[in-house]
Amino acid sequence: MMLYQQIADQISGRISEGIYLPGQRLPGVRQLSQQFGVSISTIVQAQRQLENTGLLEARPRSGYYVMPQSWAIPERPEATQTDLQPTAVTGQELVLQLAHLTNHPDFIQLGAAVPDPSFMPLRTFQRSLAKTVRQHNEQAASYSFPPGLPEFRQQIARRMYLAGSKVKADEILVTNGCQEALSLSLQTVATAGDIIAIESPTFYGLLQVIESLGMQALEIPTDPQTGISLTALELALEQWDLTACVLMPNYSNPLGSIMPDSRKQQLVALAVQHDLILIEDDINGDLGFSAERPRTLHSFSQDSAAQVIYCSSFSKTVSQGLRTGWMIPPPALFQRAEYLKYVSNLATPTLSQLALTDFLAQGGYERHLRQIKSRYAQQISLFTQAISKYFPVNTRVTQPKGGFVLWLELEKHIDTLQLSQRMLQHKISIAPGQVFSAAQKYGHCLRLNCAQPWTPQLEQALVLLGEELSADND
Ligand SMILES: Cc1ncc(COP(=O)(O)O)c(C=O)c1O
Repeated sequence: MMLYQQIADQISGRISEGIYLPGQRLPGVRQLSQQFGVSISTIVQAQRQLENTGLLEARPRSGYYVMPQSWAIPERPEATQTDLQPTAVTGQELVLQLAHLTNHPDFIQLGAAVPDPSFMPLRTFQRSLAKTVRQHNEQAASYSFPPGLPEFRQQIARRMYLAGSKVKADEILVTNGCQEALSLSLQTVATAGDIIAIESPTFYGLLQVIESLGMQALEIPTDPQTGISLTALELALEQWDLTACVLMPNYSNPLGSIMPDSRKQQLVALAVQHDLILIEDDINGDLGFSAERPRTLHSFSQDSAAQVIYCSSFSKTVSQGLRTGWMIPPPALFQRAEYLKYVSNLATPTLSQLALTDFLAQGGYERHLRQIKSRYAQQISLFTQAISKYFPVNTRVTQPKGGFVLWLELEKHIDTLQLSQRMLQHKISIAPGQVFSAAQKYGHCLRLNCAQPWTPQLEQALVLLGEELSADND
């Protein structure tokens, strides 16, 4: 991507975040060129591009202004409600269909939460890969047994520090993605029949792990802005013997909620009081639209009884194909988790770990994050705008402050499972709401993956989806 396009993306990110408001004048070119550290002509080119896309207007002798918003932001969904009964997970077979479609080049991929490769740092990462093959060919061909490569774990420890978690490299266990980290976490602390509290709705991959381990899920009401309801969790703790609670405190999937620090602190205190293990999925933690990285839940547990198992990966930021993530179990659980990792697949690919080590050490990861965060903010804004234009008026949509998915709540009678099957005929995949719930709630909701390049075909797909929904409303 050209430099001026990158700057245009960043300015548009600031507009989405509300840093520059509709109708306001942008800072002058000289000031912007200083802020972004680029030439005045790059700023001028970026402003022209934003004028062409309708985000800015030029006023003679006055400068550039943010265009007034000509569309109404749809309302947010209300906090969810559940009946606080543990249930066996059902209805997850459908998810395999979504997974298969992810690799289908003819489909518009609005279903699985997988960013299009154009959102990944493929070219810069390729350099790290090539260098690794050149310099560490023999090592890359060998196992790196658990807990994983020391130099990679060192790089992760540095990143964890930025999110408030003070960990040493030897406290980190490398895994095959976040999915394995979640599975190992549950296997480490729970057994078949145990009750696991989860956010409702939640990421379907987690439901599948709970199902495959024969555990029961207890869905806890969750607010699209502030995350899991602590009152409901406390009530559930009084009623049921909960072993663990798995949640995404930062930019959850699918709601996009983020727990304020005060609530993270309260949650850790509640967990300590009830001896409840918290399993934190922080896969989107680096993808906030503002500059500041939110703190991990893990960082709030370090002074207490170390109640949190932290899980994450590079699947949403660098590449899913690397299959590389990590977990941080409390010290007392480390050995068991490490052994389970060894038993399940011996090791995580060495090549991925070495290449990621280089990418992190050279600053490529940080540079990519700076770009991608504002691109995702822009995508969320474009999708929200399209939903406001093309979908039935009473469609409710989340307003995430990070990540790249939107959760939509439609009229109660709409069946998004049927809708998803109809959309397949148009080669469009969407994720129907019911796969995000153990008890198959949310049949009238759906999740959209917004990390797709904005093209006329994509806009047309959203028009079509809106038409199908409007037809269902008649
Ligand atoms: C919330 C969440 N957690 C975990 C995963 C699994 O990630 P990985 O590819 O790193 O195994 C995903 C992937 O979609 C996800 O969205």
